[in-house]
Amino acid sequence: MAKVRTQFARQVEVARHAGFCFGVKRAIRMVGEALASGQGPVASLGPVIHNPQVVRSLEEQGLRRAASIAEVAEGVVVVRSHGAPPHVHAELRERGLAVVDATCPFVKKMHRQARRLFRMGYQVVIVGDRNHSEITSLTEDPSFECLVAAGPADLDGVKLAGRIGLAAQTTQTQENFQAVANRILPNVLELRIFNTICDSTTTRQTEARELASRVEVMVVIGGRNSANTRRLAEICRETGTRTVWVETAGELSPELLGDAERIGLTAGASTPQWIITDVIRRLQSLPAGDLATGHTSPSGEESHTTGGSTEHVRRN
Ligand code: F3S
Repeated sequence: MAKVRTQFARQVEVARHAGFCFGVKRAIRMVGEALASGQGPVASLGPVIHNPQVVRSLEEQGLRRAASIAEVAEGVVVVRSHGAPPHVHAELRERGLAVVDATCPFVKKMHRQARRLFRMGYQVVIVGDRNHSEITSLTEDPSFECLVAAGPADLDGVKLAGRIGLAAQTTQTQENFQAVANRILPNVLELRIFNTICDSTTTRQTEARELASRVEVMVVIGGRNSANTRRLAEICRETGTRTVWVETAGELSPELLGDAERIGLTAGASTPQWIITDVIRRLQSLPAGDLATGHTSPSGEESHTTGGSTEHVRRN
């Protein structure tokens, strides 16, 4: 039987740092300036940031998305916030294209530190996702070598000895980085660590963990392709609080929230304020509903059909 409530108001508490970080704001500003500069068509190599709604909005303003440099004949090319390998920068110069380098300075710093470790003779280990563009910007450089580990388990059976240099993708958790360092340390003569996780990431993760631990449902907003949003959702789930990850307000339903009255909200570093505001309004207006039970697969994954797409939520 459906629950009936005459008075129902959800309290939504928003993390102090939610949404755009410094690097994303900077990249969007640089695209805007390039579009206004009159230097010809403006294209980005891949999505400028990992938020489909923001990218669509920039494309409506005139930004084109190119899968490769070969697709760009003239005008301005924007290098996205996660960077690009050196051969891409070289090719852009050779082709005489105007370049707007929107690589986040903290990502650049991570790349610099990792290369420094390599030049100093360390065997370099990077904690991160080997397919993420921040990491491929490094690994596609033939003059650089490293081992990429998503976590300590990736080092099982790997022979590490001598001098190891350790760095991390900027959006990693401090806990995972530490766990990899602990895994390496007993086996090596020397371990040199550059903590390259950016402050925006750590602040958002700390706040999300604290907020999730004292609400009934945690809502995390951000692109499905956003590594830092995925990490925020994982952190919230690890507290044991029901966690719902959405890209937009339209994906929320009473069934996802049940009759929770205290809702926490955070958002990935590439989520714009207008989506956060939309989600808050929708959270406050949705009636109570029966919790969706989902369909639990043998792997322990629960599927929610949300906004036309199916979101897989790993339960811890
Ligand atoms: Fe840069 Fe950190 Fe944002 S690396 S893009 S400031 S999450």
